Amino acid sequence: MPTTTEQGKQPTQEQTPEKARAARKAFIAEGFDLVADTYDEVNGEFFRANGARLVAQAGLRPGDRVLDLGCGRGAVLFPAASAVGPDGYVAGLDLSPRMAHATAAQVAARGLRNVAVRVGDAEDPGFPAGSFEAVLAGLMIFITPDPEAVLRSARRVLTPGGRFAMSSFGSVDPRWTRPLDAALAFLENPLPASSPTQGARGGHPAFDTVESIASLLDACGFTEVRTVEERTVGIVESGDAWWRSQWATGRRIWLEQIPADRLPAARAAALAALESLRDADGILRNPTTLRYTTARRE
Ligand SMILES: C[S@@+](CC[C@H](N)C(=O)[O-])C[C@H]1O[C@@H](n2cnc3c(N)ncnc32)[C@H](O)[C@@H]1O
Repeated sequence: MPTTTEQGKQPTQEQTPEKARAARKAFIAEGFDLVADTYDEVNGEFFRANGARLVAQAGLRPGDRVLDLGCGRGAVLFPAASAVGPDGYVAGLDLSPRMAHATAAQVAARGLRNVAVRVGDAEDPGFPAGSFEAVLAGLMIFITPDPEAVLRSARRVLTPGGRFAMSSFGSVDPRWTRPLDAALAFLENPLPASSPTQGARGGHPAFDTVESIASLLDACGFTEVRTVEERTVGIVESGDAWWRSQWATGRRIWLEQIPADRLPAARAAALAALESLRDADGILRNPTTLRYTTARRE
């Protein structure tokens, strides 16, 4: 196991870049293992809507072979399987064993013979070059320590003319980071400026703007790079519902590290911050901007 500090298995200063990347991946896998059972149940509506939008943007055709990177609980995988139909094929890959196993069980329960899910790293998906007409990545690349490596691998496994489609988060209303920040202030050690999991502090800076995403994909050899932004507004039913939703995403790994005796105060501080976000009509509207980026391999 890589050397880690006490605070969330963060890479230490002395680590080589390679070891630091391995430590971050272990941290990501552990974080998503923690939420594999509740991910879909608690926040599934949001992820499934995003997955369906991504599949629609990808322009899949019946018979296509598709690779879904970071398939999680199947928000992209299942609509992709419907789009390619029985003559197509969808392979799902996830770094988190619990995510991959739970989704593989769901695939079996649905009797889908043309879908396979396995544990693996998107940096090295383990398929021969030119295996897929489309590679998809729903809300995952910006989490990874080396997005360029993921994108180069995605390009390699695409057929000439193959399509790539990914989703990422657009700019965040800073007011809506306050409730989680209020809870994380109760951590024993302060959170690093850029957390290796999504959400708490955003992801890799290459995904900060539409322009930086385009530059990254250009640099990785993709053409016809296009991004559309869509804003959604989620209604937060109650403080309890919001708190529960935070424990069912990749952020849980941070919340888990708040000492048990501080957790009630952390929750109270978070919910007080949340209360201050109510609109004049008393409704909590949480805005999210999603970006859908499509590109092609020549
Ligand atoms: C926010 S979830 C998104 C899951 C799903 N695509 C969706 O849209 O709901 C990110 C997923 O990417 C996976 N992941 C992160 N880094 C990965 C990597 N290097 N290789 C494969 N999967 C990875 C995580 O384990 C997690 O299941």
